[in-house]
Amino acid sequence: MKKDFLKGTELTEGDIYKIFDLTKKYKASRKKGLFASILKNKTIGLIFNKPSTRTRISFQLAIEELGGRALYLSGDTIQTSRGETVKDTACVLSRYLDGLVIRTYKQEEVEEYARWSTFPVINALTDILHPCQALTDYFTMYEVKGTLEGIKVFYIGDGNNVCNSLIILADILGVNIMVASPEGYQPSKEVLSLVKNKELLKIDTDPFKFIPEADVIYTDTWVSMGDEKEADKRRDIFQRYQVNEKLISQAKDGFLFMHCLPAHRGWEVTDDVIDSQNSIVYQQAENRLHCQKALLHFLYK
Ligand code: CP
Ligand code: NVA
Repeated sequence: MKKDFLKGTELTEGDIYKIFDLTKKYKASRKKGLFASILKNKTIGLIFNKPSTRTRISFQLAIEELGGRALYLSGDTIQTSRGETVKDTACVLSRYLDGLVIRTYKQEEVEEYARWSTFPVINALTDILHPCQALTDYFTMYEVKGTLEGIKVFYIGDGNNVCNSLIILADILGVNIMVASPEGYQPSKEVLSLVKNKELLKIDTDPFKFIPEADVIYTDTWVSMGDEKEADKRRDIFQRYQVNEKLISQAKDGFLFMHCLPAHRGWEVTDDVIDSQNSIVYQQAENRLHCQKALLHFLYK
């Protein structure tokens, strides 16, 4: 049976650690110039209805370095932009391709593609979830810390797609996660209803409350793709949640700063924090490539 990666909930803790082991192997072998051929003779389409630097490039490279072919399908160049249904598109693409990586607005659209496709479908970000990001983020914490046991992750800012996916994977991995977001911008209720280990999740509106116990301080943009019209309003509402010198003055020594990128420097984070020794944002971005190779390996093997 085909395997999809739509919400992150498809994976067990054991699956995630298998993917982490593969990620380590793929990262080490790339340094030696060694590539695998798991996707030999396979073509995977990449449908992007929103911009992307990291996700698109890392998937394109991952597919090609696994011996496959990546076919980029910009959303405005295919007939869905003129009203062709997802069902018809998925049924037709199933006759040509061996997989789809999709970035779009509605989560339901990615799930609809998965429903009608005969191949694996991977969620490359929707308005409510970004599971590939969270998978890489926990790998990066694991790589840096050596273990996820006892780690406390603090997400500050908009309770958006990245935050929701960090919560879902924390629940599977048994990681403590604390969230500080303003009223009205907290994580999705639908996502919170999926959380089984409620004792591992704490949510508050106070940006300072969780800082002293955080091993990882994570933030993301206050204005996600699709929210641009609210930029000014959001800038005012979120100002207190900026990760800056004042906030981190209360943090533990050796905390890690993470951000999925792209960062809006001077908004959710100041230069002195994102450029500090505590920041691992470029390692995190690099790992998207290695971790997505491992995910593809897991889905196709
Ligand atoms: N973090 C992330 O998904 O970046 P892109 O939007 O550049 O893909
Ligand atoms: N929350 C951001 C993530 C970008 C990778 C957005 O959806 O725009």
